[in-house]
This record gives sequence, C-alpha cells and structure tokens, in this order.
Amino acid sequence: MKKISTAIFGIGLFIVLAAMLSNGCTASAAVAEKSGSQLWGENCLRCHNSPSPGSFSDAQWEVVGMHMESRANLTSDETAKIVEFLKSAN
Ligand code: HEC
Repeated sequence: MKKISTAIFGIGLFIVLAAMLSNGCTASAAVAEKSGSQLWGENCLRCHNSPSPGSFSDAQWEVVGMHMESRANLTSDETAKIVEFLKSAN
C-alpha cells in the first residue's frame, strides 16, 4: 500500500514538473510572437470595447498608446506593436 502511494505521488510530481517546464517555454515564446492585432484584441477589451483602428488618427493613437500602456500594464514593446497595428489600419 505504502509503495503504491509513493509511486503515484512520484508520477504526479513528475507530471506537474513536466507541465511547468514545458509551459514556461511555450508561453514566453508565444507572447513574443504575438502580433499587434492579437495584442489589441486580447488586451484592449478587458476594460472597454476594443476601439476600432478607424476611430483615431495616427497622432491620436500615439497618445492613446502612452495612456493605455500604463492602464493595461503593457510593455513598451507590446504597446508599440498595438499602436503600429492601429495606425496601419485606420
Ligand atoms: C485596465 C483597464 C484598461 C485597459 C486594459 C485599456 N483601457 Fe483604454 N481606457 C480605460 C479607461 C478607464 C478609460 C477612460 C478614462 C481615461 O481616458 O483614462 C479608457 C479610455 C480609452 C480611450 C479613450 C476613449 C474615448 O472615446 O475617448 C481609448 C481610445 C482607449 N482607452 C484605448 C485603449 C486601447 C487601444 C487599449 C489596449 C492597448 C486599452 N484602451 C486598454 C481603461 C483601460
């Protein structure tokens, strides 16, 4: 009985560690590869509807980007990609 539960615990621990290790790698790669439109779709609707690219001019998007970078807790890379996307599509 004791041996079986030790074996089950060992297998469980292995699965958890394997999941943590493999997730760690894929998640960071996936974030780095995200495009501006993906980041826009995933982040800007958390607090309000995602504004469509046509709602503002290039200069206005620059300002909105700076403002929302701190609100949405984005990195400057992510904000740059989002602003680039919004300016390319307005
Ligand atoms: C953490 C919540 C939050 C997130 C995430 C967020 N916003 Fe906002 N946003 C707000 C709030 C609150 C306001 C209104 C007050 C203000 O202007 O600060 C606002 C206002 C705006 C406005 C002005 C709307 C208007 O009609 O004047 C724009 C444009 C905007 N956000 C764009 C974005 C974009 C683009 C993103 C994604 C990069 C984003 N927001 C992510 C909270 C958020």
